[in-house]
Amino acid sequence: MRERTIKQRILLFFVLLIVFALCGCAEEIVDYPARTMPDGILKDKIQLKSGESLFMDKCASCHGKPGEGRSDRAAFFEPPAPDFTDAHYQRMDPAYLYWRIEVGKSIEPFRTQGSVMPAWGMHLTEQQLWQIVAYLQVRAH
Ligand code: HEC
Repeated sequence: MRERTIKQRILLFFVLLIVFALCGCAEEIVDYPARTMPDGILKDKIQLKSGESLFMDKCASCHGKPGEGRSDRAAFFEPPAPDFTDAHYQRMDPAYLYWRIEVGKSIEPFRTQGSVMPAWGMHLTEQQLWQIVAYLQVRAH
């Protein structure tokens, strides 16, 4: 009887583990390289300002708010372009954000999903990519 309870507990533990793994964060399901955000960038006003300018110039047409030059086209994207003011972007792994900005829709599963997210890896430097990631995490609230 006692042994059965322990087995049931172990089973419950694994079931919960799987449930948490699946519900946790959708972005964790895809595999992306580990990277460390440059130290102090989240508090560096100059770098954050550069990130903001890059965002307004290259991203706001799809990801911005209406007053930031968001295009009418953005309403028809499927999957939609996320709103980075959403609080969960503050907690998201910066390495994931970096990687998504770098590769955009060029890889699976995003390509098959019909994503229109451009890949910026060829157009921006590593420093610029981190400036944008830092800005996105500060923008989220
Ligand atoms: C042509 C419209 C368009 C532009 C321009 C664009 N994006 Fe996107 N982006 C999308 C769409 C649509 C998605 C959702 C589909 C996907 O994940 O690929 C997306 C997804 C993302 C994601 C993944 C978010 C998540 O929750 O997984 C990040 C990060 C991102 N974009 C950052 C940027 C940044 C930074 C720029 C500017 C350098 C940018 N995007 C420019 C359309 C765009």
